[in-house]
Amino acid sequence: MTPILEMRGITKRFPGVVALSDVNFEVAPGEIHALVGENGAGKSTLMKVLSGVYPQGSYEGAIVYDGEERHFRGINDSEALGIIIIHQELALIPLMSIAENIFLSNPPARFGVIDRSEVYTRAQALLAKVGLTENPDTLVTNIGVGKQQLVEIAKALSKKVRLLILDEPTASLNETDSEALLDLLLEFKAQGIASILISHKLNEIARVADHITVLRDGRTVDSMDCRGQAVEEDRIIRSMVDRDLEHRFPKREPNIGETVFAVENWSVHHPLHPERQVIRNVDFHVRRGEIVGIAGLMGAGRTEFAMSLFGRSWGQKISGTARIGGKVADLSTVGRAIAAGLAYVTEDRKQLGLLLAEDIRKNVTLSNLPAVSRNYVLDDVAELKAAGDYRARMRIRSSSVYQETGKLSGGNQQKVVLSKWLFTSPEILILDEPTRGIDIGAKYEIYCIINELADAGKAVIVISSEMPELIGICDRICVMNEGAFVGEFSGADATQEKIMRSIVRKGSETP
Ligand SMILES: Nc1ncnc2c1ncn2[C@@H]1O[C@H](COP(=O)(O)OP(=O)(O)OP(=O)(O)O)[C@@H](O)[C@H]1O
Ligand SMILES: [Mg+2]
Repeated sequence: MTPILEMRGITKRFPGVVALSDVNFEVAPGEIHALVGENGAGKSTLMKVLSGVYPQGSYEGAIVYDGEERHFRGINDSEALGIIIIHQELALIPLMSIAENIFLSNPPARFGVIDRSEVYTRAQALLAKVGLTENPDTLVTNIGVGKQQLVEIAKALSKKVRLLILDEPTASLNETDSEALLDLLLEFKAQGIASILISHKLNEIARVADHITVLRDGRTVDSMDCRGQAVEEDRIIRSMVDRDLEHRFPKREPNIGETVFAVENWSVHHPLHPERQVIRNVDFHVRRGEIVGIAGLMGAGRTEFAMSLFGRSWGQKISGTARIGGKVADLSTVGRAIAAGLAYVTEDRKQLGLLLAEDIRKNVTLSNLPAVSRNYVLDDVAELKAAGDYRARMRIRSSSVYQETGKLSGGNQQKVVLSKWLFTSPEILILDEPTRGIDIGAKYEIYCIINELADAGKAVIVISSEMPELIGICDRICVMNEGAFVGEFSGADATQEKIMRSIVRKGSETP
């Protein structure tokens, strides 16, 4: 079958980096083609070349689509031919409604006037296709990142799509929502729509992909046809990281001490709807040297709980007591929370985590400037050294610590966020989806760092939607649902099934 897309000999350079080097990439009509590789391998860049984000002339090589060589000058040119890309970093406008976002570039209009009721009805139909029941008038800022992802797809469906590109669509989705999304891709495939799926989740790829291309250091290193026979995850991992990973989770002998952080009767109300109690009088504690996981479905209140603790960054009418080392702690502002020894690494790196226009060095050291200053004067050498250490330890792929964080690959931005908070040397570290969008090799390194922190007597709280990850690294797992803790397991006892069962049982009693 002639391919619908052929990218031939693509080379793309940025100052100081060759992001893609003579890459060949082919997609057959109607297939689901997975594109995998480590953070910084060049996946997003290749897709940006394809969709015209990087226009003709800014790269070398040829794009042949639908039998003809194409010269896209911008994203409108590729969209006109049905190539629709959904970027890794969501691009919705938070203060506009879902419906307005969907029809931003091509609103249904009659005689040049936007037809509001038509916008509403069409948006509702598109939302239904992706399994959302939200009111189209809801502001995007009021729905979670997972749902925003689905709105992006609904938006893609509003255009005539023939080749859909999804850059890590399920990174922020829980397992049920990811499943639904993958089913959606299979449905598109049945309608003859081809898709390119970038993901770090190999089980998903194994489930839906017809073909897999592996990129490493900007080159194609493997290409596998997986129709007919099962894909070997080991083979994918080996070509991705160029080494065998014997275990996905590093071994550790926990050494757990006294309770260092305890929260009693913690209650939080919704910032916009004061009558809605989102966190329902919960008790929670973590001990020195302990890694505690918080499991739960999207919307369970995990992030809200964490943010309300961290300087009251979320919610209103917050009440309850937080103790650190037995004493009542003042966590009323972010500054005080940090001073009390708390750190919160956010799941949403674009919104809360990083100054994207600043370099790696500034981002790493900013939240703890005293550590790189002498007599209140910033010590450039110390700053450079600190940032350089983290860059090496976390294997942040960049030309130097002077690279703008906004120009790093998604996974590498996440590593900068983590470095930044580790640099505040917190006693209690809350990690919210710490490995979201991070490749398998780098995940392992992050688990090792979490272990090191616990071994150094810190208390670590991990919020994650990947249950195998929680089970693999935590000493204890607390399950949250509808703003309350509904189950608790030791890491050794926990299974995905038990966790899921405690969620659906929907009990509100705290164990
Ligand atoms: N605008 C840019 N300016 C400079 N360098 C860039 C820019 N965009 C990407 N790069 C570099 O190109 C390389 C490939 O990045 P890319 O974003 O394509 O990686 P990726 O495979 O998508 O990784 P991830 O899994 O982390 O999303 C990286 O080394 C990155 O730092
Ligand atoms: Mg990427």
